[in-house]
Amino acid sequence: AVTGKVEARSGGVNENLATGGIEVRAESLRILSESETPPFPIEENSKTKEELRLKYRFLDLRRPDIQRNLMMKSQVATLTRKFFAEEGFLEVETPILGKSTPEGARDYLVPSRVHPGSFYGLPQSPQLFKQILMVAGMEKYFQIARCFRDEDLRADRQPEFTQLDMEMSFIDEDDIMTLTENLIAYVFKNALGKELQVPFGRMTWDDAMDQYGSDKPDLRFGMKLVNMNQALEGTQFKVFKDIIEKGGLVKAINVKGYSAIPRRELDGLVDFVGIYGAKGLAWIIVNEDGSIKSPIAKFFSEEEMKRILETGKAEKGDVLLFVADKNPLVVAAALGALRLEMGKRLNLIDPDKLAFTWVVKFPMFEYSEEEHRYVAMHHPFTSPCDEDVDKLLTDPGHVYAKAYDMVLNGVEIGGGSIRIHDRTVQNKVFEAIGLTDEQAQEKFGFLLNAFEFGAPPHGGLAFGLDRLIMLMAKRPSIRDVIAFPKTQSAVDVMSQAPNIVDEKQMRELHIRSTVVKKEKEE
Ligand code: AMO
Ligand code: AMP
Repeated sequence: AVTGKVEARSGGVNENLATGGIEVRAESLRILSESETPPFPIEENSKTKEELRLKYRFLDLRRPDIQRNLMMKSQVATLTRKFFAEEGFLEVETPILGKSTPEGARDYLVPSRVHPGSFYGLPQSPQLFKQILMVAGMEKYFQIARCFRDEDLRADRQPEFTQLDMEMSFIDEDDIMTLTENLIAYVFKNALGKELQVPFGRMTWDDAMDQYGSDKPDLRFGMKLVNMNQALEGTQFKVFKDIIEKGGLVKAINVKGYSAIPRRELDGLVDFVGIYGAKGLAWIIVNEDGSIKSPIAKFFSEEEMKRILETGKAEKGDVLLFVADKNPLVVAAALGALRLEMGKRLNLIDPDKLAFTWVVKFPMFEYSEEEHRYVAMHHPFTSPCDEDVDKLLTDPGHVYAKAYDMVLNGVEIGGGSIRIHDRTVQNKVFEAIGLTDEQAQEKFGFLLNAFEFGAPPHGGLAFGLDRLIMLMAKRPSIRDVIAFPKTQSAVDVMSQAPNIVDEKQMRELHIRSTVVKKEKEE
């Protein structure tokens, strides 16, 4: 604490400092609190390892870039509240200590002291409660809600994160999509000064998977996936022939102007697609002089090669990369990831671009090889499309849902659906995913009971606030926009959570750890 006179600096003004033009002529000086030397420099765009920064997060949080991210998050939360309040929404809290209803990710559990052997589950989202609020006549609900999911972590996934969650009654898909894209436009305008073009484009899930190999396509660049099945009709190349005959897919991307791709890089790409389950990667290089370089060229007639190049729009200097598989989802995953990777390597992605899109008409179910049954792709309360209701039990693989995701630059920033409010449709959906009446009652009984008392047609959506801010602040990870995030292995390295607790605490909760016991026995 310095007392003195502030004076303009006579000479040597430091343009690089906000205070570089002034001096304080000190009359008294007092030290309020002493500080150790920080273990790393506190500076913008820190190069210090994240693990160390997270351990000393109180110092890391002093960095101006992180402070700006947290300010932006606070501002977006305020804007969201303002937007929803003006639209007549009510912010309602829902429980954190809830009932464990695993369907999706794994639940975090909290043991009950009062009810030995029983557990609360932390909510993966306020989904069931917000639907119950609709039955309760709330009509327009929103909440900035903390959610918990025990799943494998990635740059855009934390075990606890925040949703901008909303639900409405007497609406259809267009109402929800229009309102929520207006919210996003309002937020971008007021927080970033950016005017967004609404309505956003819409793409069906089928088209997204077909053209981009992803249900969250990055539309900042092209390089769409091209179906080669037709061009390869009647081919004698055994690998492709067998796959096509088994009802599989051969697809390619055209990496334009990269005919100089080194052989070593091509070999690396074979390993890359292998991560996504592809059994191989084939390529055709069209040299600048028009000649062809390809390990599979010898299998094709001139006519066939011409058809392939035409279908792939391959010109001099281009490279076609092929993945073939019996399972269309493997082709999508492998080529979709390869497209993103090549886009990154060739600098085709403009970091200043904002490419929004809705992905709509998701399949209602996906087949779980692990569980040998269909599971709900969104959640089991999502309404099937009207024209598909008859197929729920006869052809569940071809039922589409009234579900929609908002995607920005290849990241799913929000998702929602119209819900089922008709008991017979709900029962069919449970049956389709192999839930008996008793199991459904046991898991979701409270929601089903509420539905017995007149559920209005309703639907909603939730945004991932952390992901939204990550993209607005152009950060690579949501850890940069969360004050106290957890590491990849779900640890808070600053407070050392999770930790081993006292025997006494455990006894009171009627639980015993098999791990602790083992250590003691040794
Ligand atoms: P969903 O599961 O799609 O939908 O979640 C909504 C949004 O939350 C974000 N998100 C996450 N962000 C950070 N870390 C995570 N682990 C994480 N998981 C999800 C995503 C996602 O789009 N109840 C439904 C919504 C509804 O139907 O209304 C739900 O939770 O941005
Ligand atoms: P092979 O007959 O196994 O030597 O394969 C001939 C070529 O086809 C090689 O260049 C392989 O990389 C490629 N190939 C094999 N399987 C696939 C596949 N599933 N998808 C794309 N290319 C493949």
